[in-house]
Amino acid sequence: MNGKIVVENLTKTFKKGNVKAVKDVSFNVDDGEFFAFLGPNGAGKSTTVQILTTLINASSGKAEVAGHDVIREPEKVRRYIGVALQETGVDPDLTGREMLELQAYIFGFNKEDGKKRAQQLLEIVQLTEAAGRRIGNYSGGMRRRLDLALTLVNEPKILFLDEPTTGLDPSNRIAIWEELRRLNKENGTTIFLTTQYLEEADSLADRISIINDGEIVATGTPKELKAQIGNDLIALALKDQTQQDRAVQLLQQQMQDMDVIRKDEKILVYVEEGTKELLEVVRIFDQEQIGIEDIQLSSPTLDDIFLKITSEQKEEVKSHGE
Ligand SMILES: Nc1ncnc2c1ncn2[C@@H]1O[C@H](COP(=O)(O)OP(=O)(O)O)[C@@H](O)[C@H]1O
Ligand SMILES: [Mg+2]
Repeated sequence: MNGKIVVENLTKTFKKGNVKAVKDVSFNVDDGEFFAFLGPNGAGKSTTVQILTTLINASSGKAEVAGHDVIREPEKVRRYIGVALQETGVDPDLTGREMLELQAYIFGFNKEDGKKRAQQLLEIVQLTEAAGRRIGNYSGGMRRRLDLALTLVNEPKILFLDEPTTGLDPSNRIAIWEELRRLNKENGTTIFLTTQYLEEADSLADRISIINDGEIVATGTPKELKAQIGNDLIALALKDQTQQDRAVQLLQQQMQDMDVIRKDEKILVYVEEGTKELLEVVRIFDQEQIGIEDIQLSSPTLDDIFLKITSEQKEEVKSHGE
């Protein structure tokens, strides 16, 4: 069976407010691949997931999931997928075990098999002790683990997870990561995961697409994305924050090939050859009597890549608008 996702020129415009949530998005996910859709709030991640899981229709474009067209054969698509949406409707009065058994009956298990499957899944997500408690009393982490178990009831070939770890504390996040890795490696489940966390995509995914404002701005393995950006990153903080504007301006004037970006109290300079350019930055600031509090040279993280790509986009938009 085919656990692929094929997306071509997908577009979604919400009539309400005429919002272009997804703009001409294309990508492929291979059978058994762990794919991450990385982007900030409002980027179009949930909209894409909803289209691929047949919950809403695209405005145009094409999507195939598990070999079936999401518009023409939605019931076939649904048979092979599991979905954990960002907002789920679980009944807070049911216990975790009851909720899982209910889900199993919905998927056509008989009573006995449904109970067995529920028990199995409770063990997998480590909720056996809490199985008899009402869901309304579960912590955030327990709810996410229950959500995950619910999506696994029918042993999906492709799993869609919309920000499964947002708002979780680190230990719960790591428990979910481990379970997702296991599903992907041992069962060969194709995973489509959305996230706002760069380290999550970096740590889990075989391949990442970065989505911003409805458009895919970069795709590659974590390693490729890091390589795209140049070799080194200079991060510096000034003694006197009021000099930041002038400092950025100076760098932009005097180091024209470099990308200079602000990040909170820091100035980031993306460079080819760190050590040489580090000295150049120090020299420029020295001349203008701008005091440096802290200066560091490092390889860019995915976080830095994201910042660079999205700020490049903003500049393009700005220059088109002028
Ligand atoms: N049902 C809807 N009606 C109108 N606009 C929507 C609807 N759902 C999402 N949007 C808008 O579409 C854009 C993308 O939203 P979404 O896909 O939820 O982003 P993400 O999941 O990446 O945070 C946002 O601007 C959001 O406000
Ligand atoms: Mg979302």
